[in-house]
Amino acid sequence: MDDKELFEKINNIEIRQGKERTIKSYVLRNNIISPKAENILKKYMGDYGFFFEDSSLDYQKLFNNSNPVVIEIGFGMGDTTAEVAIRRPEFNYIGIEVFLHGFVNLLNELGERHIENVRIIRFNAVDVLEHMIPDGSVEGFHIFFPDPWQKKRHHKRRLMNPSFLNLLARKVRTGGYIYMVTDWEEYAEEVLELSASEPMLMNPFGGFAPPVTWRPITKFEQKGMESEHPINEIWLERIGNI
Ligand SMILES: C[S@@+](CC[C@H](N)C(=O)[O-])C[C@H]1O[C@@H](n2cnc3c(N)ncnc32)[C@H](O)[C@@H]1O
Repeated sequence: MDDKELFEKINNIEIRQGKERTIKSYVLRNNIISPKAENILKKYMGDYGFFFEDSSLDYQKLFNNSNPVVIEIGFGMGDTTAEVAIRRPEFNYIGIEVFLHGFVNLLNELGERHIENVRIIRFNAVDVLEHMIPDGSVEGFHIFFPDPWQKKRHHKRRLMNPSFLNLLARKVRTGGYIYMVTDWEEYAEEVLELSASEPMLMNPFGGFAPPVTWRPITKFEQKGMESEHPINEIWLERIGNI
């Protein structure tokens, strides 16, 4: 692939575009690839990145091993992704993010620190899950500090809605997990309530979960805590045949 094609593919981040575009959980601000970002993409995309394709991912080929796969959605700058991958090396991680600067930042981090159990894609997570991730194939999902879309008229943009929760539940293996953390209390309560109506999921804690030991505190979380927002953790598990 030549450089022009590489950069065009990086900036193609969703299936439905223009008038066909559905309501999205993100708004794209800056899509200009700086010379520094170009160099990082050229250097590391081949080893740590992959592109959208309308076919099931072959995890063994992607990671060169058969470790269980955890998917993080909306990794932001990717600091948590890198740290969790180092702290829990027995898993492979797929990071999905549309924010260009964050994507390039994590790509660089993975390459410079040789973090071999992470692969990342810049594309709408809904499309990636629907088209590339086989049902029942995922060990767990991480969704840390999803955009709260605070205004009532924006709630329809929230990533964690009933159909997305159902999509996640379908993709997780029996016994696998969905782990969400947010500093937006009303959103956290809404997701707890939604999860109670999803028959494929159970909440082993009955309410909010205690924090895990392996998740580092992020800048987002720090800001939330400084504003005295409680940090709520939600841990759901996929139940067997229903
Ligand atoms: C508030 S940020 C949190 C970032 C990070 N998880 C953290 O804790 O610092 C939410 C991120 O989710 C990403 N995002 C939202 N909807 C997405 C989607 N449908 N597909 C991929 N990324 C998405 C946004 O681009 C944004 O970077």
